[in-house]
Amino acid sequence: MKRIAMIVGSLRERSFNRQLAQAAAKLLEGRATVEFIDYRDVPFMNQDIEFPPPASVERVRAAISEADGLWVFTPEYNYSYPGVLKNLLDWLSRPVVAGDRATAVTREKKLALSSAAGSSGGAGARAKLAELAAALQMNLMKEPQVGVKLDRTAFETDVLALTDEMRAALAAEADAFLSHLEE
Ligand SMILES: Cc1cc2nc3c(=O)[nH]c(=O)nc-3n(C[C@H](O)[C@H](O)[C@H](O)COP(=O)(O)O)c2cc1C
Repeated sequence: MKRIAMIVGSLRERSFNRQLAQAAAKLLEGRATVEFIDYRDVPFMNQDIEFPPPASVERVRAAISEADGLWVFTPEYNYSYPGVLKNLLDWLSRPVVAGDRATAVTREKKLALSSAAGSSGGAGARAKLAELAAALQMNLMKEPQVGVKLDRTAFETDVLALTDEMRAALAAEADAFLSHLEE
């Protein structure tokens, strides 16, 4: 069974993106092994502490390295993705063996993107992540990508209630990503 690492670009406990990722994990049940990557203890990138890397970075790199693909769920912060996600990807983009860029765990890694955000549905955040993925030579599945537009009820209740249409779109993205992983 293929292994998928889920990265949620929000540290918030009740994160809508985490709820979306959990819904995706349910849709993948029995078809892929899913692991949520906890990166709360990864420090800010600082080249003074890059080699040897902190234990938290080693742990996350090992999980990514073992995964066949990454599925990133991102909020949109000011038309981009959050700094915590950029920091994590900066660490992952760096070589494991100093000087050998081919040893970065993101290199050629298969990637799916989804988002939950305000009126944009996170399209801006995903577009910028796609640029970053190209720079890191990741293997991005360009479509489909689910973008949930959060409504007032969601913000009032902190509960992501997916419409049938959105759940079907998420299922289609899960199916497409499983196919992408087989390619
Ligand atoms: C600093 C900041 C900037 C934001 N900027 C945007 C934005 O540009 N577009 C948007 O649709 N939502 C924006 N939002 C709203 C978030 O996308 C929304 O709160 C989302 O639920 C956060 O994701 P989470 O629930 O997974 O933590 C912003 C929120 C914050 C905290």
